[in-house]
Amino acid sequence: MSRGTPRVIDRGDVLRKELDRERAAGRTVGLVPTMGALHPGHASLVRRSAAECDVTVVTIFVNPLQFAVGEDLSRYPRDLAADLALAGDAGAALVFAPPLEEMFPGGRSATTVRVAGLSDGLEGASRPGHFEGVATVVARLFNLAGPSRAYFGEKDFQQLAVVRRMASDLGMPVEVVGCRTVREADGLAWSSRNGYLSAEERAAAPVLARALEAGAAAIGRDGQRHGGDVRRLMARVVAAEPLALLDYAEVVDADTLTALDVVAPGTEVRLVAAAWIGGTRLIDNLGVTVP
Ligand code: PAJ
Repeated sequence: MSRGTPRVIDRGDVLRKELDRERAAGRTVGLVPTMGALHPGHASLVRRSAAECDVTVVTIFVNPLQFAVGEDLSRYPRDLAADLALAGDAGAALVFAPPLEEMFPGGRSATTVRVAGLSDGLEGASRPGHFEGVATVVARLFNLAGPSRAYFGEKDFQQLAVVRRMASDLGMPVEVVGCRTVREADGLAWSSRNGYLSAEERAAAPVLARALEAGAAAIGRDGQRHGGDVRRLMARVVAAEPLALLDYAEVVDADTLTALDVVAPGTEVRLVAAAWIGGTRLIDNLGVTVP
């Protein structure tokens, strides 16, 4: 673990050599892929990696492959100095922050990774091509860093499922570790995109977490077993907030992410939702063990 300013590396070959040396000395590598604008959610991943691995690498790369035309690629927040301080405090030894040309010359990759099925619904339906961009950059980062463990947040539950499936299907020798969602005091999940919200929008944003809590209470406390009723309840909670516009709210199987009509006792389900708060699209999710 290191608690100083991490060393910054901006070339893939330099990162690989450095980590080859660490592995040769018997040290394990933990990887935390991010797009920067680091917050307490990211910090929790870094701390977990630093607790479980000898060398923790945080990657900071705003990946154009996972943004569609018209999304927020050009205005995505960037603050490397603040990110280095947060990553170092949380225990990162190295930060890999490559320029675009180092990762994807010309901003493209002829080879892409597509995880069929898991990538297609929910976020994938609203953001076509998004998970192909995610899987491709994460595969490239895994190949450059060769981590024994890689840390991802449950905040992006579908992304976690896609990355797990990619690693499993392609035989990548990495353990994909899912980490709990870190929230602000009012329930809003930390997100780099929360910074886009105006004061009024920020006050309205916890409606997404409240909708999920209402759905979870309907299943856990009230014995609701109809997926459609839970979905409509969550939609009603969001609709009551004038600044919010629902994209989707679903009850899905925690493994396959397929929508459920019936919520079966003893199973693990996930409540997932996405909404626009003003001009900002936010996502959240919550796990429920059905009693
Ligand atoms: P980014 O949005 O920066 O998130 C980096 C990691 O932090 C992801 O695994 C995400 O799930 C996790 N994370 C974000 N907010 C969190 C919170 N409130 N609590 C816990 N974990 C949280 O996700 C990406 O970047 C990119 O798609 C990436 C995987 C880096 C590929 O480009």
